Amino acid sequence: MPTVAAMSTAEFHRLRQIIYDRSGIHFPDAKKYVLESRLSQRLGELEIENYSQYADLLSIGPYQAEEFQEMFNRITINETSFFRNVPQLEYFERETLPAILEKRRGVKRLRIWSAACSSGEEPFTLAILVHRTLGIRLADWKIEILGTDISEKALNVATEGAYTSYSIRGTPETVLHRYFRKQGETYTIDPVVRSMVAFEVMNLKDKMAARRHGVWDIIFCRNVLIYFDDAGKTQVLRTLAEQMAPDGRLFLGHSESVRGLNVPIVQLQAAQAFAYEHAPKGVKG
Ligand SMILES: C[S@@+](CC[C@H](N)C(=O)[O-])C[C@H]1O[C@@H](n2cnc3c(N)ncnc32)[C@H](O)[C@@H]1O
Repeated sequence: MPTVAAMSTAEFHRLRQIIYDRSGIHFPDAKKYVLESRLSQRLGELEIENYSQYADLLSIGPYQAEEFQEMFNRITINETSFFRNVPQLEYFERETLPAILEKRRGVKRLRIWSAACSSGEEPFTLAILVHRTLGIRLADWKIEILGTDISEKALNVATEGAYTSYSIRGTPETVLHRYFRKQGETYTIDPVVRSMVAFEVMNLKDKMAARRHGVWDIIFCRNVLIYFDDAGKTQVLRTLAEQMAPDGRLFLGHSESVRGLNVPIVQLQAAQAFAYEHAPKGVKG
């Protein structure tokens, strides 16, 4: 393998612009070392000696799309876990879910999108909550839960549905007993819950891809907008608002805010919920 030359500031600026344009992920100046450390091995594998050549590869050539996928597999931060942010999930289970099930009682169809779901812990958590709320009534309902992410590598873990103890660290004991099978150090999700969730690679910047799936009753998009700048956040939040049912709910991460952004959603007055609904006409978030 050739030695990879250190990333120059100019190369960093060029690469981060390419990444931003494609995905909305913004690498601030202070994160240059992160980008470099995450990509250096890839350059070695490709026998590329410097980051300018790598930027060229992403800009032109027949393997561009595959290389973007390879790159996003490496540069994204996929930190997640089952039952992440319990107070928010309690709000979802106690308030949002019963209310939306009541509203959909006639059609018996519920659609949930976990956008930027990483390795699947979030949509599986939501599936568990729906499963235990509906109980035997589940058979009468058409429940669609979709987990999407830009990282194919993360979604491969999700598709397997097999996790380490790190992923289940915040999971209540009762849930572990009911919804997981433990074999050695591996926790495998219950097959019924597994079958409730579909996964698909999707870039949140890709409005058309989001539109193809129609409108969702519930959208979770947690802990991804922290990697976007205001323009990127605004773009994604507008897409999510467009894809949310008129009476739908959007859940964001606890450190994510829409304050100051020109987006057509407003936060619900419920502590710890980080839940949003469509803004009344003429009001912005
Ligand atoms: C920190 S994880 C959050 C996972 C989960 N939502 C949670 O809160 O536990 C952030 C995820 O966002 C994904 N991501 C980053 N940029 C994205 C984009 N433009 N489109 C879709 N997913 C993206 C990453 O691949 C990563 O898996």
